[in-house]
Amino acid sequence: MAAPHSSRSDAWWRDAVIYQVYPRSFADGDGDGTGDLAGVRARLPHLAELGVDAVWFTPWYASPMVDGGYDVADYRAIDPAFGTLDEAEKLIAEAAALGVRVIIDIVPNHVSDQHAWFRAALASKPGSPERERFHFRPGRGANGELPPNDWPSQFSGATWTRVPDGEWYLHLFTPEQPDLNWAHPDVRREHEEVLRFWFERGVAGVRIDSAALLVKDPALADFVEGVDPHPYIDQDDLHVIYRSWRAIADEYGAVFVGEVWLPDAERFARYLRPDELHTAFNFNFLTCPWEADRLRRTIDATLAEHAPVGAPATWVLCNHDVTRTVTRYGREDTGFDFAKKRFGTPTDLALGTRRARAAALLTLALPGSVYLYQGEELGLPEADIPPERIQDPMYFRSGGVDPGRDGCRVPLPWEAEAPSYGFGATSDPWLPQPPDWARRAVDRQRTEPESMLTLYREALRLRRSEPGLGDGALSWQPSEEGVLSFARAGGLLCVVNLSDRPAVLPRHERLLLASGPLDTDGALPRDTAVWLRA
Ligand code: GLC
Repeated sequence: MAAPHSSRSDAWWRDAVIYQVYPRSFADGDGDGTGDLAGVRARLPHLAELGVDAVWFTPWYASPMVDGGYDVADYRAIDPAFGTLDEAEKLIAEAAALGVRVIIDIVPNHVSDQHAWFRAALASKPGSPERERFHFRPGRGANGELPPNDWPSQFSGATWTRVPDGEWYLHLFTPEQPDLNWAHPDVRREHEEVLRFWFERGVAGVRIDSAALLVKDPALADFVEGVDPHPYIDQDDLHVIYRSWRAIADEYGAVFVGEVWLPDAERFARYLRPDELHTAFNFNFLTCPWEADRLRRTIDATLAEHAPVGAPATWVLCNHDVTRTVTRYGREDTGFDFAKKRFGTPTDLALGTRRARAAALLTLALPGSVYLYQGEELGLPEADIPPERIQDPMYFRSGGVDPGRDGCRVPLPWEAEAPSYGFGATSDPWLPQPPDWARRAVDRQRTEPESMLTLYREALRLRRSEPGLGDGALSWQPSEEGVLSFARAGGLLCVVNLSDRPAVLPRHERLLLASGPLDTDGALPRDTAVWLRA
């Protein structure tokens, strides 16, 4: 089966709206409390009606689910809780028939400890070829009782685990996610084959998990604060890997989006050179507080860093790892920082929702592609998960200080009156849903003119029909302090008021869309955005 719409000149990804599905929580087709591919297939019309161009699935492969599927045991099999490979193929074809492309998630930094390679490594002796695909080392200290180095974890906690014969293995995440050794040819070959396996099945793109972490300093030297290069982040050899991946993707007309968390703009842009990744997530935008100056600076910096390599920017407000947008924007600190997540942070959801609506219009008017995380179109807030129901390892590894990421992974509400709000034929999904989510259900919002769903649907419809939106240039317009105002081609204006008083709108012919009601005198209230025809 060839990739649908595949052609090298087809630059759909330069301004696509890509919807992220977390399969465990999207829709449950078999009623066992866990989302699955049958559920996704049944709900594909929602995505088509919303008007998205592509869907990115977080990992759907066979996995013990220690880290929500980011612990992959077999890349060529769908987890039985989600369905079968045959269903995945059908899903890809059905989505294509609705004009929706499929992007999958590849996790090259590590595998599950249940992956055949790691089991073979554990069953083999120190120094064996099976262990060379991972980072096994003797410990330090008189009896090897200390870990081989002092590397900090990407989750809190240890990065080395000792096995019974005394060796240690490296895992930047949980002990159930051993890091692969990217200096080993098997590791490279296997990933290239996995890419082909999925491209052959019609997948249009790949999201690369932890894309800047794969290559390790060969000496596994200790981490020294402030000394470059970092022993495991952004090592130069990564670019060799991505060039070889790009050549494979080009054969199929497929695209990459990298999960690259790097504050340094110049280093970040290297991943986007024309023979490397097509795009990477814009985390500087995601983490930026709701402040006009800082947003404007972030937008300018983003466009400036992408321009020299000719790559389109991406705009992301949330995903399965971070606090949901309406919650974050309703807090005193409207930025995002993993290290600052705490239980019980005071939140004004009405304020956060107003801002999230304005942010939606801002984001969808910027040049480049946009990622939407499932439930963002419903304005779902971060849910409070009772500690005894939390499953995310970030919570456990922080000793219960960090609430973890389950609050943004709660099963979606589809039907206000059905058990589990129509998520599936169960009253007890894998994570509990808040008691007041009936009003957030898709069926309620679909016909409600003021709902978040209606706003997103309308914005996506206009984005498709307005040639000025999507890829292209942006020009800032004069505006009052605290107001962002920019023009796109074809006389389209986006104005966002982040100040604490109403703003006068620039002269315009027509109001195309507003994130909330305007004042009776036509002024733009605070935390409100509009699209205008100039
Ligand atoms: C990425 C994923 C996150 C996962 C981690 C380890 O950051 O987005 O969910 O826990 O990688 O694979």
